[in-house]
Amino acid sequence: MTNVTPLVDRSHLMRTYPDPPVTFVRGQGCRLMDTSGRWYLDFLSGLGVCSLGHAHPRVTQAVSNQASQLVHVSNLFGNLVAPEVAATLDRLITAGAAGVEGRIFFANSGAEANECAIKLARRWGAPERHVVLSAYGSFHGRTLATLAATGQPSKQEPFQPLPQGFRHVAFDDLAALEAAMDPDVVAAVILEPLQGEGGVVCASEGYLAAVRQLCDDRGILMILDEVQSGLARTGEWFGFQHSRIIPDIVTMAKALGNGFPIGACWARDEVAQAFRQGDHASTFGGQPLATAAARETLAVMEEVKAPERAASAGALLRDSLKGLPYVTLVRGEGLLLAMVLERDRAREVTAAALARGLVVNAVTPDAVRLAPPLIVSDAEIAEAIDLLRDSIGEAFS
Ligand SMILES: Cc1ncc(COP(=O)(O)O)c(C=O)c1O
Repeated sequence: MTNVTPLVDRSHLMRTYPDPPVTFVRGQGCRLMDTSGRWYLDFLSGLGVCSLGHAHPRVTQAVSNQASQLVHVSNLFGNLVAPEVAATLDRLITAGAAGVEGRIFFANSGAEANECAIKLARRWGAPERHVVLSAYGSFHGRTLATLAATGQPSKQEPFQPLPQGFRHVAFDDLAALEAAMDPDVVAAVILEPLQGEGGVVCASEGYLAAVRQLCDDRGILMILDEVQSGLARTGEWFGFQHSRIIPDIVTMAKALGNGFPIGACWARDEVAQAFRQGDHASTFGGQPLATAAARETLAVMEEVKAPERAASAGALLRDSLKGLPYVTLVRGEGLLLAMVLERDRAREVTAAALARGLVVNAVTPDAVRLAPPLIVSDAEIAEAIDLLRDSIGEAFS
C-alpha cells in the first residue's frame, strides 16, 4: 500500500466527464480503494451496477472460466450461454403473469437495450404508427434515438435536429398521457417505473396500472425502461412488479453483469415477432463472456434472494435517512433512494461524504442518491448514516 497518490494523465480522454475527485484501483464487496490505498464505503455501486458488490468471487470466477474457454463467436453461430440467460430473464420477468412468454435480444448497454425497444415498437407499428411517447424528467440513454426519448431538453439542445417521432408528457400525469395517446400514430409509451436520473422520483400508486389499461384500450405498446430500477434493486425483480402488471417490452442493463457490460430487451412473444431476420443485430450482443457474467450474477442474486434483501435493507436505510438533520424527504424504493435536503446542498454533502470515505451522488441540486450494493450489511448502513450525519453537518454549517 502506498500513501502517494500518483498523478493520472487524462489528457488523451475526451472531456465528456468532469475531472474525477478520486481514482479507484480496487474494489471488494461494498468497499473501494483509491490510488493512495485509502478505502471508501461505496453507496452508489457504480450507479446501480455492482449490485452483488465489487469483485464478487463467483462472478469473477465465472468470467475467468469463460474467458479461458470461449469469448466470442459472432451471431452467425450459436453459443450455449445466451439462450440459458434469456430463459432465466423470461422466467423472472413473467413470474406472476400466467400465460405470458417472451423473448430477449442481448445488447451491451442500457441505451442499446432501449434503442432495440424503440426499433421494435416502430417495426410493430409500421407503417402508420411510429411515435414514441415518453415523460419529462426521464432518462433513456445518449444515442440519438434514446436522447430523443429522454425528456430533458437541456441534454437534447446541443444535438438538434434529433430523430423525429418522439413526444413528451409530464411524468405521473395520466390525463396528459391519455391526451397524447393518438392510436393512429403512437406505437408505444416508454417510461421508467421510477425515474432514476431524474432524481429518484416515483410515480403515484396506480399510475403504471392505469397506463397499462390505457395502452390496452388503444392498442399501444407499453415499454418499461428498467435499466436502473430492474434486477432486484427496488425490492422486486423488476420495478413494474410492484404494480402487478406486465409490460409489452422491458429493457435492462446496469446490474445484469454486475459490472460486465451487457444490456437486454425483452418483449412478449407476439410483439417480438415483429422483428424479422436481419432487422436488428449487435456484434457483441449475447456473446459468451458477457452472458456468462450475467448467468452467474442472476444465479447468485436468486440464491441470496436479492429482491428481499433490497426490500429489507432499503427499509432500514430509508428509516435511518429520515432521522438525519436537514433531510426533508426520502424518495425511492428498495435500495434506490434519494434523500432530499432542505436546501440545494447535495453537491456539498456529496463532497463532504467523499472526504470522509463515503461514495454517494448528487442526483439533483437538492437530492443525494444512495444505491449501495444489494448485499450491504446493517452495520455498513449504520456506518454510512454516521458519515452522512457528519457530512450534512459540515455542508449546512
Ligand atoms: C433508466 C435508464 N435508462 C437508460 C440508461 C442508459 O444506460 P447506458 O448508460 O448503459 O447506456 C440509464 C443510465 O443511467 C438509465 O438510468
